[in-house]
Amino acid sequence: MENSMATATSSPWSLEKLSKEETIHLRKKHLSHNLALFFDSDPVKIVRASGQYMYDEDGNQYLDCINNVCHVGHCHPDVVKAGAEQMATLSTNSRYLHDNIVILAEKIAQTLPGKLDTCFFANSGSEANDLALRLANAYTGKSGIIALDQGYHGHVASLMDVNPYYKHHYGSDLGEKTYIAPSPNTYSGKYRDCDYSKNEILLNYLADVDAKIRECQQSGHGVSAFLAETLQSCGGQVVAPSGFFKDAYKRIREAGGLCIADEVQVGFGRVGKKMWAFELYDVIPDIVTMGKPMGNGHPISAVVTTREIADKFTIHYFNTFGGNPVSCAIGLAVLDVIHKENLLQHAVDIGEYLMMKLGQLKDKHDIIGDFRVVGMFAGIELVKDRDTREPATQEAKYILKRMKENLILISTDGPGMNVLKFKPPMCFNKANVNRLCTQLDYVFSDLEKNPLIPNVSISKSDGIKKFKCQTEK
Ligand SMILES: Cc1ncc(COP(=O)(O)O)c(C=O)c1O
Repeated sequence: MENSMATATSSPWSLEKLSKEETIHLRKKHLSHNLALFFDSDPVKIVRASGQYMYDEDGNQYLDCINNVCHVGHCHPDVVKAGAEQMATLSTNSRYLHDNIVILAEKIAQTLPGKLDTCFFANSGSEANDLALRLANAYTGKSGIIALDQGYHGHVASLMDVNPYYKHHYGSDLGEKTYIAPSPNTYSGKYRDCDYSKNEILLNYLADVDAKIRECQQSGHGVSAFLAETLQSCGGQVVAPSGFFKDAYKRIREAGGLCIADEVQVGFGRVGKKMWAFELYDVIPDIVTMGKPMGNGHPISAVVTTREIADKFTIHYFNTFGGNPVSCAIGLAVLDVIHKENLLQHAVDIGEYLMMKLGQLKDKHDIIGDFRVVGMFAGIELVKDRDTREPATQEAKYILKRMKENLILISTDGPGMNVLKFKPPMCFNKANVNRLCTQLDYVFSDLEKNPLIPNVSISKSDGIKKFKCQTEK
């Protein structure tokens, strides 16, 4: 395709520089083919977004149930304004004194318990987790890392070593200093509540942590860090049994290791009752990492630890973009919006409402084996059979496609890719929940009438009209 950059399109939105076909062509030609796309056989082209809605090149309005990055709402005007104003004033690096970086550090520290008051700024969750592992290594002098099965912590080399998610889904290898304890999943994990009592499940999962600590020590690596999300996201929206993290942290510390809470997906109030997911478990990590929602789409991340741990990390630290005045202005605006719009309470309210609606759906549809809702972090686990809990993987994929055809974007995850993952912008409202659940109801009913035959998909009208640019109140 010659001269494609010069091609104008007839999009009513005038935001497209290229037709969708040309975009696909150039993507295939010039981008790496392993760059993932949602709906790869029929990808969505998004040209603008606002709040919890995204718009394609034809003006179709999609309800976004996926995007936990545009946390306070796509293109939130306060965040856009803060970034634009700072960009028009100054963008430099943290080698100069600037107010934004120190005010942001202070405000973040104020949200955290205990002695977590010392911040490092970076640009992505991967960078933050990589730095957290380096801090732990510098403090403990040990190198063994204990992580949870099914976890994902980032794409850099140090984290590919501790990403069981990649091992399971894409066949990559774990590092030789990595020790993986089972994901503390009480529904479809190693120890399940159909086979064990609640307390047995907890004790079994903790015994497995003990075993990994022993292995780590016997290998000579010693325990440097326990890196985990307290609510596992890529692992399938997993809610650990009560007491798991408190006891696991205790055991890791007794072995001389540090506890790192990866809050990259679940932080900044998504869980509703608290700002940070680990707070739900009554633990205080030694290091907290944060990213995605922190800049509402702008790349900014942070590692927060205690002064004592930070002081042991004596090697020169510099990050060209980390902590620049623009990123920090945006980070400050995000915190401000969370506070001003009372988004934690909103997450509690929406979470409770969603829980009620999902309860009704579960009563009606056997495909729902379990659902877990913590504020605006939810997972709906789809099974072929409630007794065996066999993952309804193909059905989950089909449901995503049908939801997308009806302009609702939702994703799947978990070991069996059978958990519908809900983590929308925090301005998601009750009308949005109604629309999501009504559409799920249609698709589940359809599947009951026309079960999927392996590799043959059914296509039926959902009885819901596509609609453009209507905003649910
Ligand atoms: C829990 C968790 N940690 C870390 C990361 C890595 O963040 P980033 O993609 O910003 O490097 C991700 C990304 O999906 C994540 O889900």
